[in-house]
Amino acid sequence: MNWNAKWIKPSWEPESKAPLFAKHFEAKKPVTSAVLRLTGMGVYEAAINGVRVSEDVLAPGWTTYPKRLQVQSYDVTDLVAHDNELTVLLGRGWYRSHLMCWKDGTIQTELVKKPAGITAELVITYADGTTETIITDESWTVSESQVRFSELYDGEVYDATFVPQEISTAVCFDGPTDTLIPQEGDPVREQERIYAVRVFTTPKGERVIDFGQELTGFLEVNLDAKAGEVVDVSFAEVLDKEGNFYNENYREAKCLYHYICRDGQQTYKTRLTFYGFRYIRVNEFPGGVEKADESSFTGIAVHSDMKRTGYIRTSDPMLNQLFSNIIWGQKSNFVDVPTDCPQRDERFGWMGDAQVFTRTACLNYDAERFFAKWLNDVAADQHEDGYVGAVVPDVLTHVNERGTASAAWGDAAVIVPWEVYRAYGNVALLRRQFPSMRRWVDYIGTITTTPDLWTGCWHYADWLGLDAPSGSYKGSSREDFIASSFYAYSTELVIRAGKVLGEDVSAYEQLHGRIVTAFRKAYPEYMTQTECILAVHFHLAEDCQKAADQLARIVREAGVQLKTGFVGTPYILHVLSDYGHTELAYELLLRREYPSWLYPITKGATTIWEHWDGIMQDGGFWSRDMNSFNHYAYGSVADWMYGVAAGIQVCEDEPAYEKVCIEPHPSEKLDWFEASVETRHGLVSSRWSKVHTGGWRYDIATPVQAEIRLGGKVHKVPTGSYVFHQE
Ligand code: BGC
Repeated sequence: MNWNAKWIKPSWEPESKAPLFAKHFEAKKPVTSAVLRLTGMGVYEAAINGVRVSEDVLAPGWTTYPKRLQVQSYDVTDLVAHDNELTVLLGRGWYRSHLMCWKDGTIQTELVKKPAGITAELVITYADGTTETIITDESWTVSESQVRFSELYDGEVYDATFVPQEISTAVCFDGPTDTLIPQEGDPVREQERIYAVRVFTTPKGERVIDFGQELTGFLEVNLDAKAGEVVDVSFAEVLDKEGNFYNENYREAKCLYHYICRDGQQTYKTRLTFYGFRYIRVNEFPGGVEKADESSFTGIAVHSDMKRTGYIRTSDPMLNQLFSNIIWGQKSNFVDVPTDCPQRDERFGWMGDAQVFTRTACLNYDAERFFAKWLNDVAADQHEDGYVGAVVPDVLTHVNERGTASAAWGDAAVIVPWEVYRAYGNVALLRRQFPSMRRWVDYIGTITTTPDLWTGCWHYADWLGLDAPSGSYKGSSREDFIASSFYAYSTELVIRAGKVLGEDVSAYEQLHGRIVTAFRKAYPEYMTQTECILAVHFHLAEDCQKAADQLARIVREAGVQLKTGFVGTPYILHVLSDYGHTELAYELLLRREYPSWLYPITKGATTIWEHWDGIMQDGGFWSRDMNSFNHYAYGSVADWMYGVAAGIQVCEDEPAYEKVCIEPHPSEKLDWFEASVETRHGLVSSRWSKVHTGGWRYDIATPVQAEIRLGGKVHKVPTGSYVFHQE
């Protein structure tokens, strides 16, 4: 991007304080337009004459900073007066905060030593046709601000009484210009206000406020106070068994919220950091904590500004709550990057989590732009040899400290672009990602210890599978089995993508054939639920029906319980319903006892948990340190609810629902079920309901030509609304 402004920073070391940059300027003539382009090393909030330049928050967002840093562009015409002050407040954000707390000190020091820099240009066009450009340079000033501390994991300390003693001149430095790119993703914005539902005193005597919903975002306090009085709050997702405030699972993320009041009625909210929470504990409040009530605080949900496109409603309130939890899991973890969780000291773009959830994500919301930006980071972070780290932006792979990539995590480089293409039909995006997809598959061939399989490497395996040996996070499915099956799947997707793009994929077709042969030879038997699932779902089993029947049998033998982790869970219901075990799939979906999707709801969950037993049956916690209550991965079950229960599917070779296949699968266990998806071609909806005289009624609407499959019959219909009855 063409860039002439300089990078500026304070002449002093701000550490975790947020510096405030300022520039005074005059508009000498009538203004017809004014455009501000801006970015920073951290997260910024810019204002002209005290009015924010846009509704975007946490800009410039999170990208692979060493290669890509977004520049936002704002139309500020209406804000420019004759005499003006442009200010930019800069917190550490993702750029300069302590991240990845379990990593060693040197990495952390490198991160936080980066300069607190901004670079900006304001182009004013006057009515007489002349223009004037104001850029960041030594004419800007910098002072300390009321934000006394700002870190991504550690929260914010704000002193409303603080008045800077010194205003100094900004210093220019050599910041990156060749990595600057225009904003690519959806901007992050405040989306909805969540009001407290309950204030109470815990058995420990602490004042706690419940927002009734776990969310990611900001906390606003509204109060009348005297200067110097303090509001201090801690955040939590859950209460413990005794009903006490519990936040040990935030690990090293301090999540401070410490506000020093000024005089009078006032409102304060954090803007340069975010929190994942449902409860707050009021540690200090003017006049005593008992003065804090439901009206004192408001939660503000913050996420990427995506359009909601998918809805599911059913006759079962618990299933509806599950869907709500899935939606909240997405809202909470789509803050510019698809993250594992929003609260503890991670909040990373974990690849495995992202790939299992992409299909669901693209049904719930229009996530094309969101993923398009992130996929650019995936490609940017991919190494020369094709290696892809476990998180993107990759802040974990440190130079000289790299092993091999993990199956199902690295495979996101192939699966996510394919799923996004499938949902939205963007061929250009697929073309852009294709070299990266191909390189991933080629890379596997270079690291495996057995040709045509993927063996001998380290993996996350069936992460958090319930059949894990005691003390391990990894389910007991064989790692080489999982890796080899993903090798086959990614190769298959490269072939499909290549065909869409008119590429020669014959070498991959041969490779795929060889993988299937080698796989069948190496793995004639399946030992776990996840092994059956992968063998069937990736078309590797010689006899898929037999393998699916085996799955059904072992699920039943286990007492209709799933044992699967991150790898097997997304496909388990699909494999069952694809091979005649739809009722068993419904049994799993509707099971209320542990382990199941609905079990967390019996424990009050309002988002999807990382662990099937985050809160165990006796009310205790699964663990202290790996226990997020807001992890979207298992929410991937929604794609079965849309695609199989309601039956809304893209027809194989027609992405973006250009042609729709609708094949609802009703179940006696529910009275009715309905889903709708706002596709690129219009709204598709499918509803089934029990008829009291017996049988089913189907209400289907399609904006495009559709194939409606009911009771073994295929109805080819043009656009329109249809009602069918079936005995
Ligand atoms: C994250 C996961 C992630 C995993 C890697 C965890 O700490 O929260 O969701 O995929 O590590 O296995």
